[in-house]
Amino acid sequence: MRRKIVAGNWKMNNSLNRGIELATEINKKVRKQEENDVLVILAPPYIHLSDLSRIVDKDAISIAAQNCASEPKGAYTGEISAKMIKSTGAEYIIIGHSERRQYFHETGEILKKKLVLTLENSLTPIFCIGEQLNEREAGNHFDIIKKQLEEALFDLPTNWMGKVILAYEPVWAIGTGVTASAAQAQEMHKYIRNTIAGKFGQEVADNISILYGGSCKPSNAKELFANDDVDGGLIGGAALNADDFFAIINSF
Ligand code: PGA
Repeated sequence: MRRKIVAGNWKMNNSLNRGIELATEINKKVRKQEENDVLVILAPPYIHLSDLSRIVDKDAISIAAQNCASEPKGAYTGEISAKMIKSTGAEYIIIGHSERRQYFHETGEILKKKLVLTLENSLTPIFCIGEQLNEREAGNHFDIIKKQLEEALFDLPTNWMGKVILAYEPVWAIGTGVTASAAQAQEMHKYIRNTIAGKFGQEVADNISILYGGSCKPSNAKELFANDDVDGGLIGGAALNADDFFAIINSF
């Protein structure tokens, strides 16, 4: 079901104590709201997952991992499987963030394996896609996004596709302070929804939540979220401050 969603991606930030403190602050603010139809998700580093799952109110905040292994189990030193993530109480996994693609060389093939493992373990993937600046400047951004969707998602059965959340994050906007304009975001989100409709049908496309990510902050969230095809945000830097993150949640 299409939902309004604000997800905070903490990336590689926060000690365990600071993570607990920040999640507690956010939880207090979100819980106070009487009617909250926004799904709030926190994606801390792995080490926080089980603590945060225990301390937040389940009906106010859900927990996501930022990644998972591309193999189900076994001799893969340093890796964390989707099944292990499930056992912490987390419900979501971010897959294919541009930093994973860029620094850890995650290809469409690898991401497809991660998506399948996430769905097999009854977890919800938040699948990220986005073009680089040179790709946009060359006018190739729609083709790049289509390719990223095709290579990782197009083999999924339709009932699984209905469970996926998408996040459009133009790489040139991530952590740079440069945000896509509301018009650029809407244009791409609409393209993504149409592409999903073309492959999986209009019903799946109408029901899929597509988040925007990339320097989303209290000052621009309202304008971004006002677009028909923008269903919320995946927030990096501004998610590390409880007041800013809460202001973004309240931007709908
Ligand atoms: P940012 O990061 O909000 O700091 O640009 C967004 C993201 O990478 O998900």
